[in-house]
Amino acid sequence: MDAISVIRTKRDRGELSDGQIDWVIDAYTRGDVADYQMAALNMAILLNGMNRREISTWTAAMIASGERMDFSSLSRPTADKHSTGGVGDKITLPLAPLVAACGAAVPQLSGRGLGHTGGTLDKLESIPGWRAALSNDEMLSVLDSVGAVICAAGDGLAPADKKLYALRDVTGTVEAIPLIASSIMSKKIAEGTGSLVLDVKVGTGAFMKTIEDARELASTMVGLGADHGVRTVALLTDMSTPLGLTAGNALEVRESVEVLAGGGPSDVVELTLALAREMLDAAGIKDADPAKALADGSAMDAWRRMITAQGGDPDAPLPTSREQHVVKAAASGVLTRLDAYDIGVAAWRLGAGRARKEDPVQAAAGIELHAKPGDTVTEGQPLLTLHTDTPERFAYALEAVTDSYEVAAPGTAFTTAPVVRE
Ligand code: URA
Repeated sequence: MDAISVIRTKRDRGELSDGQIDWVIDAYTRGDVADYQMAALNMAILLNGMNRREISTWTAAMIASGERMDFSSLSRPTADKHSTGGVGDKITLPLAPLVAACGAAVPQLSGRGLGHTGGTLDKLESIPGWRAALSNDEMLSVLDSVGAVICAAGDGLAPADKKLYALRDVTGTVEAIPLIASSIMSKKIAEGTGSLVLDVKVGTGAFMKTIEDARELASTMVGLGADHGVRTVALLTDMSTPLGLTAGNALEVRESVEVLAGGGPSDVVELTLALAREMLDAAGIKDADPAKALADGSAMDAWRRMITAQGGDPDAPLPTSREQHVVKAAASGVLTRLDAYDIGVAAWRLGAGRARKEDPVQAAAGIELHAKPGDTVTEGQPLLTLHTDTPERFAYALEAVTDSYEVAAPGTAFTTAPVVRE
């Protein structure tokens, strides 16, 4: 077998055989297929797709590239959630401790920023001392003692995804349903969770721009979960506008702590509670009340214990940016559009994301939103504050936000998109 013939098969719209898929994933993981060859194959998959059998074999090969975890020693049922990625999507941060406070064990293996979307690990690393890399024993011990752990997948878990994820991020090959579905589900199945709630984002700021694509991604992942005995449900949620009022690493941690303290933006609270209810239901926990766990401080307690158990100081001040730039409303009226993709790109250009896979991210870079669609704004009021440590980035980031919003005549009606359960 050789990489060139596998690339040619997909380039020419053929079906990859099980043997080709098993070989290429294994050879890439071992370093026998080069990054540039895998990038070419990913691009051919993005352009020409894969059928259900190919996706299933590709996912199984990614699972088989590493070890599988086992949580059967835990006394609590396990429940996990995964978002397909969005802008300002900090939901994992309040959600994991909240669901733990309600009685489930949440083994949340998370990723880094991908394209214009932020990554949970990059966000949490803005907390002084916090460590994303835990050994399997450490992960199990935090999960057992706190009920929630958010960490990087260990080197042994789906190593093929680790390499592919970083490669796709910098080769324009993120937005392929087979690659997203296999990336997410290989990690979740190898991780060994009993149940999984998928938050499939749809809209400009998501990888899936249309409801049809989001449905296809959701049903592909639900099918892969069922094939491997993981109870999997999916919510389709709006990502045409950023979630909450922040996009960027430390900015999003701050907002998540506000939610855990009983405040925070209503869309973040609403989605956190909706996903918590689905996770508890999928884990078979019927009598818990997540809204109460937010209000009575038990979710905050779990957060503090989780951060401390991973070396972080929950009381340490979060980094703040050296430079800010404020974008003001040019007219009075109703904000009818604030585009999630544009805001995500601008946050990424300010330093919240990576241009090359080895790049560091700036903890304090990002964007604060001072109004959301549906809000009335007055001429001259701040709409956005851009944050960075490197002010030469402002011009490039401002290019991305110039057309990111619309202010319509006062009184214009505005409705938000509902959450859809698949
Ligand atoms: N999240 C993942 O883990 N992988 C993807 O490909 C996209 C989002």
